[in-house]
Amino acid sequence: METKVKDKDSLLRRLMEAGGEPVSGQMLADEAGVSRTAVWKWVRELEEEGYTVRSVRKKGYVLEASPDLLTPALIRKYLKDDPFVSNIIHFESVGSTMPIAHREAHDGATDGTVIVAEEQTEGRGRLARPWSSTAGKGIWMSVILKPDIPPHRAPQFTLIAAVSICRAIRETAEVEARIKWPNDLLIGGRKVTGILTELQADPDRVQAIIIGIGINVNQEPEDFPDELADIATSVRIQSGQRVDRAALAAAVLRNIGFYSRIYLEEGFAPIKMLWEENSDTIGRKVNAVMMRETVTGTAVGITEEGVLEIRTEDGSIRGIYSADIEPAE
Ligand code: BTN
Repeated sequence: METKVKDKDSLLRRLMEAGGEPVSGQMLADEAGVSRTAVWKWVRELEEEGYTVRSVRKKGYVLEASPDLLTPALIRKYLKDDPFVSNIIHFESVGSTMPIAHREAHDGATDGTVIVAEEQTEGRGRLARPWSSTAGKGIWMSVILKPDIPPHRAPQFTLIAAVSICRAIRETAEVEARIKWPNDLLIGGRKVTGILTELQADPDRVQAIIIGIGINVNQEPEDFPDELADIATSVRIQSGQRVDRAALAAAVLRNIGFYSRIYLEEGFAPIKMLWEENSDTIGRKVNAVMMRETVTGTAVGITEEGVLEIRTEDGSIRGIYSADIEPAE
């Protein structure tokens, strides 16, 4: 359905929907119940935000180009009518999207609320490690989910996110990402995405799951700090093409909505199957490096809880709950 124009943001959506065709200024003014000058002012504001809007004599306004941003309007352009995302909150720069998402979830944000930033100055990863979040180069977002499940099932959403992001990268950039247990996505053996899942819960019910997603999208090698030079990569480096971040973010969100629904309707089995199919870990000989010991063996699968199962030399199966995985030999 066509967006009804009432302010600058709905005007932008309407110009996007027109797909390059002019939309009459008089018609927009009548629809919004404002003067043509008011419509022109909205257009000027959009231009100040980086959009290129051409005014075609006697025909109206045409949206010619959009800035490279992750604004709600740009992400929604690609989401179209997908029902999953309920709200997108966009920031130019934040410390980390995680505490903001926690606050929003606590204050009543609905299932499918997304906090997204162009830059994080204190992005954080698993085990309190820092997460490099250069301005305008990646997707740094936290997704709030409020499924009606007990807390022990919440970690399965990390696997839902991993499967969703793999598919989104494949759809948008035509490169294959593989999942390294528990929550890294690799392309060409280097890390392209990290997932950090956090929880707000009562003893028997989840209040909110916050899935923090960091995707390296358009970085060039020199954009990574020295310590990541040999271990990180971006979709652009691997595909050889600049990627539309808003299109990729929308694909990730659409897939998270899709696979969450499958999970809630059909259980974990379909997700487990897809995860194992996309896994870089299963079938390999690995060292699982933990605080007190290292377990060596062949990774054979994951359990319902997302625990990695390793068959050791003596043929027994060890369940690994938390470890850094590295290739053995
Ligand atoms: C990891 O691999 O250790 C997880 C990295 C998670 C990074 C994302 S970026 C968006 C969200 N905000 C953060 O501060 N961290 C997560």
